[in-house]
Amino acid sequence: MKDITILAIESSCDETAAAVVVNGRQVLSNVISSQIDIHTLYGGVVPEIASRKHTERINQVIRQALEGAGKDLKDMDAIGVTYGPGLVGPLLIGVSEAKALSFAAGIPLIGVHHIEGHICANYIAAPELEPPFVCLVVSGGHTHLVLVRDYGSYEILGRTQDDAAGEAFDKVAREIGLGYPGGPKIDRVSREGDPEAIRFPRGKASGSRYDFSFSGMKSAVLNYLNTAKMKGQEVSVPDVAASFQAAVVDVLVSHAEWAMEEYGLDRFALAGGVASNSALRAAMADACQRHGAAFYCPPPVLCTDNAAMIGAAAYYDYIGGIRSGFDLNAVPNLRLGER
Ligand code: KG4
Ligand code: ZN
Repeated sequence: MKDITILAIESSCDETAAAVVVNGRQVLSNVISSQIDIHTLYGGVVPEIASRKHTERINQVIRQALEGAGKDLKDMDAIGVTYGPGLVGPLLIGVSEAKALSFAAGIPLIGVHHIEGHICANYIAAPELEPPFVCLVVSGGHTHLVLVRDYGSYEILGRTQDDAAGEAFDKVAREIGLGYPGGPKIDRVSREGDPEAIRFPRGKASGSRYDFSFSGMKSAVLNYLNTAKMKGQEVSVPDVAASFQAAVVDVLVSHAEWAMEEYGLDRFALAGGVASNSALRAAMADACQRHGAAFYCPPPVLCTDNAAMIGAAAYYDYIGGIRSGFDLNAVPNLRLGER
């Protein structure tokens, strides 16, 4: 069968990214231009600034991705682009660019779901992985426990009812003075702290048993900090960070274990920015061993936002016959499985 080569574009938040991916699993180039330094000044992503930076960088990033792969635009079989969910301005930059390239070169256009991209990062990292499997997608904007029935076929078992896991990491990090982005900083500082120093509540959601809630846990950390301040007690930042991280990891792992028990699948995957958390990776690897399931987790560069994962997802859409028209638009709150 002929190789299918896809140029993929990702601009849903604060990384401008482009990649060239062959047959959904072989990455020829993966260029990521991060805006983290700029947004750090404001303590979080400023959508207007993100849009402007995407506009400035996107052509250069695409050129680098093609050059790095040793390919021309005319060598591409399709252009895959994230069209949701995400920030509307940043999404529109990628979608407009992809439409322009697709029109100019006469190459098919495929709109890709961002979360589907995160899940498909696992296909790049583990060439032997095939559905069905359970995937826990944990990022700055999303926390979804997903049953991946087949390529492009997903059932959401549970989702967060309030904050996403990464959002909770970022908010707590800000409160304990670690700054943005909080996840990697909490991960690092936690290594010097005691995860059992403070028992923060393991939040329970009111809906399905697979749903998540992180806002109570975040408030418990704020209460702890305020009480300590009022009493003039010193706070150990590493202990707070490690104890909060342990609470998040406990909740994520227990949900994943319920799904492994209920669905009896022998494959489990992690995805999304928070999947690069060292404590989560270690605890999930242990849980999978207990359940006799193979554990999959992409390397950190494929966990946080990138375009290679969009190229992997676009490939399975491509061979499934999915094509987008020039009326493709940015859909900020696109749901998984929706088109
Ligand atoms: O997937 P991603 O790059 O963007 C979204 O689609 O949201 O995820 C970014 C999130 C941020 O909240 C960041 O703090 C978190 O992933 N993150 C981590 C770690 N690395 C990134 N959270 C915990 N531990 C980490 N090592
Ligand atoms: Zn993401």
